[in-house]
Amino acid sequence: MTMQNSAAEADRALKSKHRAMWAQGDYPSLAAEVIPDLGAILVEACGVGSGRRVLDVGAGSGNAAIPAALAGADVVASDLTPELFEAGRAVAEKQGAHLTWREADAEALPFGDAEFDTVMSCVGVMFAPHHQQAADELVRVCRPGGTIGLLNWTPQGFIGRMFAAMKPYAPPPPPGAQPPPLWGDEDHVRALLGDRVTDVSAERRTVRVDRFATPEMFRDYFKERYGPTISVYKNIAGEPERTAALDGALVDLARDGDQGTGSGGTVLEWEYLLFTARRTG
Ligand SMILES: C[S@@+](CC[C@H](N)C(=O)[O-])C[C@H]1O[C@@H](n2cnc3c(N)ncnc32)[C@H](O)[C@@H]1O
Repeated sequence: MTMQNSAAEADRALKSKHRAMWAQGDYPSLAAEVIPDLGAILVEACGVGSGRRVLDVGAGSGNAAIPAALAGADVVASDLTPELFEAGRAVAEKQGAHLTWREADAEALPFGDAEFDTVMSCVGVMFAPHHQQAADELVRVCRPGGTIGLLNWTPQGFIGRMFAAMKPYAPPPPPGAQPPPLWGDEDHVRALLGDRVTDVSAERRTVRVDRFATPEMFRDYFKERYGPTISVYKNIAGEPERTAALDGALVDLARDGDQGTGSGGTVLEWEYLLFTARRTG
């Protein structure tokens, strides 16, 4: 096997591991119950409207793709994990949205150069492990003058801190893989896109999450439904002390982030970076 072949083989194995990670649990219900408004926020920031050809990268069950289709755009929802499309199709049908679902790795998009007016991703592309490769693909498939729109969890925000809390219990990342929350850092995203974009707008905002009555309920919900959290727990299965330590760390995180008064359940504000830019050329 040549060096190139073995690198391609290793990448395929990594991506199939990632696909299995996102297919476990129940990500579609989490997106619908915990962050249902984020997709529409991104769609609005991108100015998606009738007649525009839109690609959603890491679309999952269509949190952003469905509102884009409802806004009249011609939408392709793409994702590494086609298992999530079934839930997305059901929601789209219920809401009367028409769109195309396509299996695709963000680092090797199966689309032509400049095919889309808008290329967007709602907490999706940030999970592709090779950031520059993924950024290059976003730029490549966006037409000159088109819009690139990204909504990503920040490193210092709640989900960024959750990944930091899980890290000691996760297997070491494969060589060359970069941490997802870096995509929530404006300078990092600007550097990835470089002078291939202009008219950058970048704003840190928060989304309020108040559906968990207690920090323990937040932890248990993520343990049951969120692929990355499930995988970390699997990695330490059979190690009761480390499992208890991670249990405690996730509860502490939610307790620490609680903005509520203590009387009406846990109120969390999850910070994200909303980034839009115009493709030059
Ligand atoms: C947190 S979910 C976000 C899904 C959706 N955009 C939303 O807002 O609910 C992250 C998504 O990124 C996808 N993903 C992870 N790695 C990917 C890759 N290399 N290429 C494309 N999608 C990927 C996962 O399958 C998952 O659907």
